[in-house]
Amino acid sequence: MSLFPSDDPIIENHAVLEPDNNSYTPSNLPEREDELAEINRILRPLQTGGSPHNALVYGPTGQGKTVAVELKMQELRTWADNKGEDVTIVIARCKGCDSSYHVLTLLVKRLREIKEGRGVERPQGYPRKALIEMVFNEIDRLGGIVVLVLDEIDGIGEDDYALYELSRPDISNAKIGVIGITNDAQFRNNLDADVQSSLGQREIFFHPYDANQLQDILARRAGRGLVDTSFNGAERTFENLESNVLDDATIPLTAARASNETGDARQAIRLLRDACEIAEEREELVREGHVKEAHRKIEKEAHRELIESETTQRKLALAGVIKHEITGNPNPGTTDIYQTYCAFSKEIDGRQVSQRTVRAKLNDLAHQNILTQSRRGRGQGRGMSNFYSLSIDPELAIEALGDDQRLEGVAEILWDLGK
Ligand SMILES: Nc1ncnc2c1ncn2[C@@H]1O[C@H](COP(=O)(O)OP(=O)(O)OP(=O)(O)O)[C@@H](O)[C@H]1O
Ligand SMILES: [Mg+2]
Repeated sequence: MSLFPSDDPIIENHAVLEPDNNSYTPSNLPEREDELAEINRILRPLQTGGSPHNALVYGPTGQGKTVAVELKMQELRTWADNKGEDVTIVIARCKGCDSSYHVLTLLVKRLREIKEGRGVERPQGYPRKALIEMVFNEIDRLGGIVVLVLDEIDGIGEDDYALYELSRPDISNAKIGVIGITNDAQFRNNLDADVQSSLGQREIFFHPYDANQLQDILARRAGRGLVDTSFNGAERTFENLESNVLDDATIPLTAARASNETGDARQAIRLLRDACEIAEEREELVREGHVKEAHRKIEKEAHRELIESETTQRKLALAGVIKHEITGNPNPGTTDIYQTYCAFSKEIDGRQVSQRTVRAKLNDLAHQNILTQSRRGRGQGRGMSNFYSLSIDPELAIEALGDDQRLEGVAEILWDLGK
């Protein structure tokens, strides 16, 4: 096999087909004009020397929240430079911050780095009150207008102390505006009422994209990232896209698959990229078949990750369902599964939990869409019972179980049974 699959590549710019914002940032978002206009409204007071409004940006994953706010912040920076206004923008990605304490230490670091350059350590061992004072001191020192963007802020859960304090700043020399971004609807509902009314002064919701919007988003990526692919006409819409490497059905199918699930643009872009890579390897045009193959691959990975992250007890309950499935009983009840669970638990010398607990584990797995649960009568007036079936490919499930060292033996038994 040669190092590169083809002398005649399909992808001419890989970065454009990457689904994360670090590789490529689109310069316009026609599908988000309303939301961008709302962000403008938050910033409008700056024009007359006022403070920006606080805001909460929310909506499901992959809807362009991060990229929309970042684009607006770029525009704000340019505006401030041109007008000679004293505006500082801090974009803090709070992923991994699971408390207000962590958000505050991150903010102190980021604010200090503005004056001192990269590499400032996060403060350690201070109480939260001291940290919020450090944040306000740094902002005071900067002066002018400071916009704080707290992206993926939901990790703090109900510990919203930082948001409470930041939305009531005690600063004399600067004005501040806070924009929180989250994809967790529950997070927003659980915020303290005071925080909801101050941070949520303005709420900007990003509705999931529909299939047509995803087609246009994909068409623009394809126009920049693929060879022999460009727009016929000024409007860069899917209708105007012309390509010698994409089959006509490719983008509609990619968009349809992604919109069926969650309308997630990140997922749609990733699916198109994977389909293009598969086609490129085989020196073929990108067709529906490649999209389907790529989709299966992505689904498989997602299922695998899901199973891998389960607890041993849940994996054993799952092994019980798999055993019934591959030995010709695709819809076992709780009692049958419990017996198999006990046998597997002995196999690994594990702790054995009660049937009730196993039923709870099975319901958790159904919640994760690894199992499908149904409820029906056991016949002859014996009441209702729960039955479970696998919602994913049994081979894939066994493979994922076998990745857990403790369950290698159980996976082997299942492989043998399935032969
Ligand atoms: N309207 C759009 N036009 C072009 N690309 C878009 C558009 N919306 C989203 N994208 C792209 O989709 C990907 C995901 O967008 P983004 O990271 O902004 O989503 P998000 O809403 O912040 O998701 P999360 O909640 O998971 O953080 C990025 O690559 C982004 O460039
Ligand atoms: Mg984001």
